[in-house]
Amino acid sequence: MNRLGIAGEETSSTTRPDWLWNPPNHVAIIMDGNGRWARKRHLPRIVGHRSGASAVKTVVTATRTWEIPYLTLYAFSWENWNRPRQEVDGLMALLEEYIEREIGTMMDREIRFSVVGDRSRLPSAVREKISWAEGRTAENGRMVLTLALSYSGREEIVRAAMRFAREVQNGTLSPDDLDDAVFSRYLESSALPPPDLLIRTSGEIRISNFFLWQIAYTELYFTQTLWPDFGEEDYRRALTDYQERKRRFGKSDDDREGFSG
Ligand code: FPP
Repeated sequence: MNRLGIAGEETSSTTRPDWLWNPPNHVAIIMDGNGRWARKRHLPRIVGHRSGASAVKTVVTATRTWEIPYLTLYAFSWENWNRPRQEVDGLMALLEEYIEREIGTMMDREIRFSVVGDRSRLPSAVREKISWAEGRTAENGRMVLTLALSYSGREEIVRAAMRFAREVQNGTLSPDDLDDAVFSRYLESSALPPPDLLIRTSGEIRISNFFLWQIAYTELYFTQTLWPDFGEEDYRRALTDYQERKRRFGKSDDDREGFSG
């Protein structure tokens, strides 16, 4: 039985390295800096995004090889719809291409593909490609790769509140039934465990409306590296940093007093 709870033979292509003695269960990444990477080279922004897609491949491969069960990538935010039409179209084409190109690897390496976000805003060709890939990879049990697309953390919380409110309106539930655990079940991403580690590249130190509910106790890691330059070595550094942290989940250490988050 692997960590996703699905039985199967382990493949020789997967080896948790010795340095990874305390791996996170779920890594989430805000992939930032594609535009600056391109600008530094006097190239169009879409070339930065294309190089970003290569970094995605590197990180997905490493995550699977290192036996980290969940990886979520913030690939297109709700706010990104406000970018110039040409850039949005280029990103949508890139996503479609990525899914088409990587489906073979996802099947070979038993990676389940999923998407969170408002897919109704995505072009129909992208929506169809997503449903196709989700369907084909649904039984894969070695890793879950989730793309946050047209995603907004606040929007996800608002929609969860709406769903709960409807149940109250129907008389199925009462407001007193609501608590943290119950509310979590109404989130679109409820099937995902909360991230243990959130990485943001490119030197920006903010969350930008990503997993707002989910990151209550997530360890945050910020690096100056621009996303297209983010390679296996950078990823290893982030994981090494993570596993040396002391997570307390709001409890205090025996030898400390007062608040500890
Ligand atoms: C942020 O960089 C990145 C994005 C808005 C898109 C992320 C997309 C990819 C990494 C490639 C496609 C994804 C997949 C899964 C194939 P930015 O453009 O905001 O960079 P800047 O802040 O330097 O301008």
